[in-house]
Order: sequence, then structure tokens, then C-alpha cells
Amino acid sequence: MNFRAKMEESAKNKQSSIVLALDFPFEKQENRKALFAKAESVLDAVHPFICAMKINHHLILPLGTFDGVQKLVDKAHDFGLMTIMDCKVNDIGATNQVIAEYYYAAGFDAIIANPFIGWEEGLEPIFTVARKLGRGVILLVYMSHKGAKEGYGQTIYDNETGEKVPQYVSFAKKALKLEADGAVVGATYPEKISEVSKILGEKVPIFSPGIGAQGGEIKAALMAGSRYLIVGRAIAQAVNPAESAKEIRNFVMPK
Ligand code: XMP
Repeated sequence: MNFRAKMEESAKNKQSSIVLALDFPFEKQENRKALFAKAESVLDAVHPFICAMKINHHLILPLGTFDGVQKLVDKAHDFGLMTIMDCKVNDIGATNQVIAEYYYAAGFDAIIANPFIGWEEGLEPIFTVARKLGRGVILLVYMSHKGAKEGYGQTIYDNETGEKVPQYVSFAKKALKLEADGAVVGATYPEKISEVSKILGEKVPIFSPGIGAQGGEIKAALMAGSRYLIVGRAIAQAVNPAESAKEIRNFVMPK
């Protein structure tokens, strides 16, 4: 079963389309054990309400990939969750290959990559490693922050068609052509989700970060075509993470 199918299965089993971004603020070295314990306790509390866990540099940097984060990845798998590394791979091919190999070796089911690097000596080695190991590659299409318009939103001449198109439209077409396992479009831009969704159809699911803390709205993102909602601070840093996760899950999938 490929990553896309496993995500669908996890979402069905958990009755949730929420991807938890397990993110926390900076901690000094002496607090790093407590940071791991905090991350573990949030995962323990919210796992019934989510379908996947997403890790970012917030935990990779202080805890390390193999000494700390891998334990969380294993735990997430024990809970029946999928795991995604939000590393936004963005380097030359030889380096990307090693990045992908390490994150997949740590157990991640999918990694996020930046299509700005192009295919040859860019994305190609990532997809090759992923396909060999049966793992996923999710591509950025339009990021959730305001400055996204300067890169993802710029108008370009599509090299293949010679037409003037928005950068994110070209990336959405690329995600479809490459059979990526997901496309990231910010929940903060439902109109872009809608446009991208028309290109991707059912073939490539849309993952949308930006719910809550960044101002994105669940209903608008889902109605525009998002399949999975990435939620970080609104759950991980809530006073009661389990209550917040449950509330969001129940809003998305009313009983
Ligand atoms: P919050 O706290 O804003 O956390 O709910 C969101 C998480 O998702 C990351 N993020 C993105 N990741 N493309 C990505 O691949 C994006 O456009 C994007 N926007 C936010 C963010 O770093 C955090 O981990």
C-alpha cells in the first residue's frame, strides 16, 4: 500500500483528517528532556483525534532525529498514525538524497519537498529513494504565509507550454505529473485551494496548514477541496490539547 492509500486508511480508522504539527517554542538545553516529555504527552493525549503526526525543526533540532524524534515516530506508528517530516527539502540532488534517506531511515512515511528545485538533480533523487522504500513525497504548491505571493504567487512563463501562469499552477501541474503523494496549499488561501483542487482532482490530496494560529478557516479549506488539515499551535500548545483536537475533529467530521 502506498503512502496515499495508508493516509486514507488512517483517516478512515481514526475518523479524522487532522495532521497534528507537533511544534513547540524554543527551549534551552537544560529543558530538552522536559520538551521530549511534553511532546510525548501531547501525542498520548491527542492520538485518538488525528490521522497523522507532522514533525518540523521545532523537535528535530533540539531532540535529534534518531535519539529523540524517532521514538515519537515509533509511538505514532503504534497508535496507527502516519508520520510526515516537514523538512521542505530544497537542495541539490546529492544532498536531497541523503536528507531523504535519513528521514525515511528514522521511520517517516513521507517528507515534504520544495518543487522550486526542479526535477533533474533536484526532486528526482528524492522520488527515486521514496519509491524504492515505498514512502511518500509531498510537494509545496502554495505556502500558508503572507510572503508566499512573492514566490509561489508570481507569474511565470511555463517552460513547457510557453504560457503565462501563476507559479503555483505550474507546481500543481508538476505534482500531478510526478504523481506526488500530496500537495501543500495554505488554508489561508481557500481560493488557491479551489484552483489547485481543479487541477489535481482526486489524484493528489491537498494538505492545508494555517488553521487557527495563522487565521485559516477549517470550513473554507474543506469546501475548497483540502483533504487533510495540518494543525499545530491550536492543538499542541493549547491548554488542553486533547479537548482542542477533539473539538476540531468533531467540527470537521460531525457525528
Ligand atoms: P500552526 O501552528 O500554524 O503550524 O498550525 C503549522 C505547521 O505547518 C508548517 N507550515 C507549513 N508547512 N507548507 C508546509 O509544508 C506550508 O505552507 C506551511 N505553512 C505552515 C509550520 O511550519 C508548522 O509546522
